[in-house]
Amino acid sequence: MEIDRNAFLASQGGASSVDQMSPEAKADAMEDFMMQQLNTRQANQGRLPVASEIEAQIETRSYRRGAGNLFVAAEGNVRRLPPMPGKPTLVDFFRLRFSVTSNHVLQSAHLAVKNNVPEEIVLACLLHDVAQELIKVDHGWWSAQLFEPYVPEQTTFAIRYHQALRFYADEAHGYEYPVLYRYLFGEDYQPESYIEATYKMVRNHKWYLGPRMVTVNDLYAFDPDVNPSLDEFAGIIGRHFKQPKEGLGYDNSPVAHMWRSIARPDMPL
Ligand SMILES: [Fe+2]
Ligand SMILES: [Fe+2]
Repeated sequence: MEIDRNAFLASQGGASSVDQMSPEAKADAMEDFMMQQLNTRQANQGRLPVASEIEAQIETRSYRRGAGNLFVAAEGNVRRLPPMPGKPTLVDFFRLRFSVTSNHVLQSAHLAVKNNVPEEIVLACLLHDVAQELIKVDHGWWSAQLFEPYVPEQTTFAIRYHQALRFYADEAHGYEYPVLYRYLFGEDYQPESYIEATYKMVRNHKWYLGPRMVTVNDLYAFDPDVNPSLDEFAGIIGRHFKQPKEGLGYDNSPVAHMWRSIARPDMPL
């Protein structure tokens, strides 16, 4: 049976989650995935799932699909997290908390640099999905809010709206509807009206190309030989990210609690 690599990665929460698995866990996950595909294809007679079938899976899980990566274990129990420094920086969060999303966003930013995207948008690519560590639902909006006090407005605009633009092809700029979404949402999925309204607003906005470039460089097909390091982006972070001297989470900004929630997800209240 042929394996759809992108669909497999998506089923496991992305390439970086798969990278973190032991070889045994990877083999098990692959086997589960093939079984599931086989069952789905048999049940569907060779077609992709439809939205109602995706919805029917809700009560087959012990967690909700929108829960952030830090709050759900990829396998077994969650692990104890390494302590954060007293005045954590963006780099500390990448190193110690963005473990599931960092490889993906680094690859996106690396590709954006290759494609000569402006620095503010490379920064958007570097940050666009990291709020998924906290929550996946509406992750574009959450990610943009998390960074709003610290980065240029064009950067947050690109982060916030990449989420809506991902559902709409733009062939002129080299963006196709992702095959992955047919698996994640179902073949007949129609974006909700707020997503469509957002898309229409952004499509006519003077900053449209920012979020569009995030989607163009937002790839799920990873090159396993490219492992960009955060050091590659030290200059861009230095020029465009206003690191608070008290540390992220302790600067009394309107989003400080969001950083603390990422730093300390084991707090019961
Ligand atoms: Fe995203
Ligand atoms: Fe992404």
